[in-house]
Amino acid sequence: MYSIRMTASNAKRSVHAPICAPVLGVETSCDETGVAVYDPVRGLLAHALYSQIRLHADYGGVVPELASRDHVRKLLPLIRATLAQAGLGVGDLRGVAYTAGPGLVGALLVGATMARALAWALDLPAVGVHHMEGHLLAPLLEADPPAPPFVALLVSGGHSMLIEVAAIGRYTLLGDTLDDAAGEAFDKTAKLMDLPYPGGPVLARLAERGRADAFRFARPMTDRPGLDFSFSGLKTQVLLAWQASDQTEQTKADIARAFEEAIVETLTIKCRRALAATGARTLVVAGGVGANRHLRARLAEFGASESVRVYFPRLEFCTDNGAMIALAGALRLQAGQRETPHIKVHPRWDLHRSHADARG
Ligand code: KG4
Ligand code: ZN
Repeated sequence: MYSIRMTASNAKRSVHAPICAPVLGVETSCDETGVAVYDPVRGLLAHALYSQIRLHADYGGVVPELASRDHVRKLLPLIRATLAQAGLGVGDLRGVAYTAGPGLVGALLVGATMARALAWALDLPAVGVHHMEGHLLAPLLEADPPAPPFVALLVSGGHSMLIEVAAIGRYTLLGDTLDDAAGEAFDKTAKLMDLPYPGGPVLARLAERGRADAFRFARPMTDRPGLDFSFSGLKTQVLLAWQASDQTEQTKADIARAFEEAIVETLTIKCRRALAATGARTLVVAGGVGANRHLRARLAEFGASESVRVYFPRLEFCTDNGAMIALAGALRLQAGQRETPHIKVHPRWDLHRSHADARG
């Protein structure tokens, strides 16, 4: 019924200072239950993910109450399985990290409650991690990690942001979405052409069969200065084009290709601007839309032509996962962050204020 991915990493060395402290990471902000164990010395020890896709598919989108209930069912067995995979017992853990927001409140509370209870029972420190900081730091799980300062393009189902990262934990918001996030635009566009949930990856696969230049859509907000995004008008353009078309499978693929091209070019233009504005020569791309092959190829090409180093997480760490939360939590614990044992979640939460909020 559920898709399960379980991986034991082969003890990759981490760039971070040694404190020998396996940290459990728990991600339950939306429709994936993610668990991982990250050790600042030995790297990622194990991670596992239950996707709720099939649970929500009949409804065409995530049903929050079903998501929460499924996290309740899956989280503890997944923690046990991940620890076993890492060859650890709960007594070997030195900290617990969980996604404290943003996300669905019920889903967040499941992870926060479980993580806090575990930490309390084991007398361990626990930290609430900002979900988008998890995404932002996911490329640090790779063998050749980026080092600040850099610009991060964070593109997920809920966010499209450009962030200036002066240091880990020091984030300045450069640009944000005024309406739909990039992933949301993918999902809504897919839905209006009757593609199944989750629309983004399905639409991206369909786009591969589309013909170049059969349709052309606007590159929103690229005709004026600034780093903000707006993708909801694009969705309307697609709707009008789809309604006026012959609605064949080939046309659907052609529209998907033109839509993807519009998003990819818009994101590339804004990345170029953000790098010029900050003087950074390193770009980090993360979040679910970062799994888009066309976007990855275009930004890699852009980086090669402009001597900008471009970093992406591996595909499975672009979308939601526990590994990025375990890593972000381990870095926070390593930096000495400690929180009172309250169960606190932030369904809406600004990334650039999250470190101060976590202390408060
Ligand atoms: O980061 P993520 O897993 O969850 C959020 O934090 O929102 O991102 C999910 C989003 C969805 O909107 C999904 O459609 C989109 O990422 N996505 C993609 C691709 N894979 C996932 N969008 C375009 N192309 C893809 N290959
Ligand atoms: Zn996410």
